[in-house]
Amino acid sequence: MSKYLKSITLAFAVFAITGPAFAEKFGLGRPALLAEVAAWDWDINALGEGLPSGSGDALVGEEIFAEKCAACHGDFAEGIDNWPKLAGGADTLDHEDPLKTVGSYWPHLTTAYDYIKRSMPYGNAGSLTDDEVYAIVAYILVLK
Ligand code: HEC
Repeated sequence: MSKYLKSITLAFAVFAITGPAFAEKFGLGRPALLAEVAAWDWDINALGEGLPSGSGDALVGEEIFAEKCAACHGDFAEGIDNWPKLAGGADTLDHEDPLKTVGSYWPHLTTAYDYIKRSMPYGNAGSLTDDEVYAIVAYILVLK
């Protein structure tokens, strides 16, 4: 392990031990509730482990996408202004200026599920139901 990594690891270890003590001393924050921890303590891996049960299709996904995503990503995921494009870019990864999208460089759709459920729509993360995420992922897959 490099010296730099050792220092970072040590800094995190010191913070992990002293952080809660400082917070208590200065009256900052409060312990997280079990329900709060549970709401964030999940993940979906490349094999699909962790996926919730549910379903959705691209037609429903198109409607949800238009309502909750298109303002930034465009109706066809082409990206509005500087907001990220989510579709297109196939076969551009070896270009000087590749177009990286879910279709072109995300190797596992399960990752898209995890990311969208965890962090989109931007500014309102965690608001999508499991079925809405399935439908949106199906729609993005069609656009590719
Ligand atoms: C207010 C604008 C906004 C809205 C609405 C929005 N997004 Fe995003 N989206 C972003 C921004 C900004 C990023 C880049 C975030 C980053 O890199 O940290 C992003 C990134 C993404 C990415 C990852 C792109 C990549 O290749 O890294 C996906 C997938 C995505 N959004 C899907 C969605 C979906 C699905 C919805 C609707 C449910 C949605 N977004 C709604 C702004 C938005």
